[in-house]
Amino acid sequence: MCGIVGYIGDRDASPVLYGNLKRLEYRGYDSCGIATLDGKIHVKKDTGSVEEINKKVDLASLPGHLGIGHTRWATHGGVTKKNAHPHLDCSGEIVVVHNGIISNFSTLRDLLLKKGHKFKSETDTEVLVHLIEEKYDDGIEKAVRDALMDVAGTYALLVFSTREPDKIICARNESPLVLGIGAGEMYIGSDIASFLKYTKKAVPLDEKEYAVVKKDGYVVKSLATGRKLKKEIMEIDWSDEVAKKDGYAHFMLKEILEQPTSVASSLNVYPEDISKLALMIDDASRVYLCAAGTSLHAAMLGEYWFSSLCNKSVIAMDSSELQNKGVVDGDTLVIGISQSGETYDTLASMRYAKEKGAKIAAIVNVTGSTAARFAEHVIMQGSGIEISVCATKTFTSQAIILLRTALALAKKKKKDVSKIEKELLKLPDILEETIKLKNEIKEISKKYLTVENYIYVGRGINLPSALEGALKLKEITYHHAEGMSGGMLKHGTISLIDKDLNVIAIVPASGENRSKTMSNIQEIKARDGVVVGITSGKPVDGCDANIVAPECGEAISPLVFAPIYQLLAYYTAVNLGRNVDRPRALAKSVTVE
Ligand code: G6P
Repeated sequence: MCGIVGYIGDRDASPVLYGNLKRLEYRGYDSCGIATLDGKIHVKKDTGSVEEINKKVDLASLPGHLGIGHTRWATHGGVTKKNAHPHLDCSGEIVVVHNGIISNFSTLRDLLLKKGHKFKSETDTEVLVHLIEEKYDDGIEKAVRDALMDVAGTYALLVFSTREPDKIICARNESPLVLGIGAGEMYIGSDIASFLKYTKKAVPLDEKEYAVVKKDGYVVKSLATGRKLKKEIMEIDWSDEVAKKDGYAHFMLKEILEQPTSVASSLNVYPEDISKLALMIDDASRVYLCAAGTSLHAAMLGEYWFSSLCNKSVIAMDSSELQNKGVVDGDTLVIGISQSGETYDTLASMRYAKEKGAKIAAIVNVTGSTAARFAEHVIMQGSGIEISVCATKTFTSQAIILLRTALALAKKKKKDVSKIEKELLKLPDILEETIKLKNEIKEISKKYLTVENYIYVGRGINLPSALEGALKLKEITYHHAEGMSGGMLKHGTISLIDKDLNVIAIVPASGENRSKTMSNIQEIKARDGVVVGITSGKPVDGCDANIVAPECGEAISPLVFAPIYQLLAYYTAVNLGRNVDRPRALAKSVTVE
């Protein structure tokens, strides 16, 4: 993962880099560092979060108007100061930051060691800077390009050298990198939001491209041919304001409570875009919704909606498994679902499917992201920036896009879905009421979410809710939670029920899945289990506590229950004193395999 930033202009580089790095911490936060140029290269780095390190070593005080920075999520080499980026060559005249994995790093390292290079870290990245040093004879641009010819793996990297103090060279292969264009200054970042405070003009690099960036402009070229490429400048309409906490204790809380607004925005996404996706689904023999993490749970909701409303089988696929499990050909449609649009496995599944001749669509939140630019048809889900590592409002938006697409397809098939459509339009109001339960949820979390193991149980369209509820809890509390169907509970897991394991039951307002889940609750109570019910309309008999959302139909109930289990996880994590917005070992965007 990791986040990288660069700046060249008239401002002091280090405060700019420090601020922009803080916006990239969702990509990793175990160590960080900055290098600037002011006659010589100045480097400060350490372990910890950007803010912690700044307190220790005053990152923002480095001199110079050109610099690069990095926030790390360790892959090769432990979390140590030595392994933190930036990395210098032997001469101390070239410096590199890198996001990605150099897969042939050990061969390259052996080669470079034989040539006398001295390594200071255990990282794969350090081979890059020594390789560039080795290739340097006719300028830094050529040295970087020649070095990358020998490199296998993924990278977004930034390099500068004391020998050419007017430029930063950056290159990309399967890890995101975006240039931000200012007036007489240039920004570089792993995403657009990193420099949104300074400019809304951006140029994302595509695969195997590199750029020579100077303060008054840039040139993008092909790594393979060295030829200049024409790139379109994107105007970004996100405001920097949304990246602020607005007085909330955590971004996660702010983002959960924003859902009445974010779902309204997803309900407004162009109907033409939705209809086009519905047609693509209808035309395909096989449809895979490829995604990871929370986005995969949104995809699973899609599976239920397409089968129940349109009689169309679509398959939610763990994107890392498409190559192992999928049947992909010219009659296949792969829809990548990704908040960031940068998840390695999801992008890999889309690339694989394209090679096999499949059609590719995407549902994405981040403007200008790789998935958004790769797919033939893209739906921007319209959630706005999500900062907290734990995905909340982007989940409900992804789900709404899928539900709206299923409704469009159902209507094309002349099915009457008017009741669900009407209810969906009321969703912002229903959610407004639902989030008013927050104090009640806080109390229930204090009283019932006090053990270390949980089972989330749901049936039908609320099986994905159970999986997502359990994931939220795991991510930020570090307690163990499993989501499963009521049907599966009896096949093994019920044996775990005791005073150290509590159950969260997700129960719709009425229908078969309500009565069947109530039977599950009886089975749990018969074994002295503790059950918290998340339901709609009226409490569920037999539960020790109930959180009751406004009454809604089962089809839209996963959208109504989402803020409830999100808040339950949130307050439990707060009670435990966890770092809610930055849970240990996680990153918002997983850009490595
Ligand atoms: C990481 C994040 C999750 C996210 C998943 C997929 O694991 O921590 O919150 O759901 O990646 O991310 P994407 O950007 O593809 O939706």
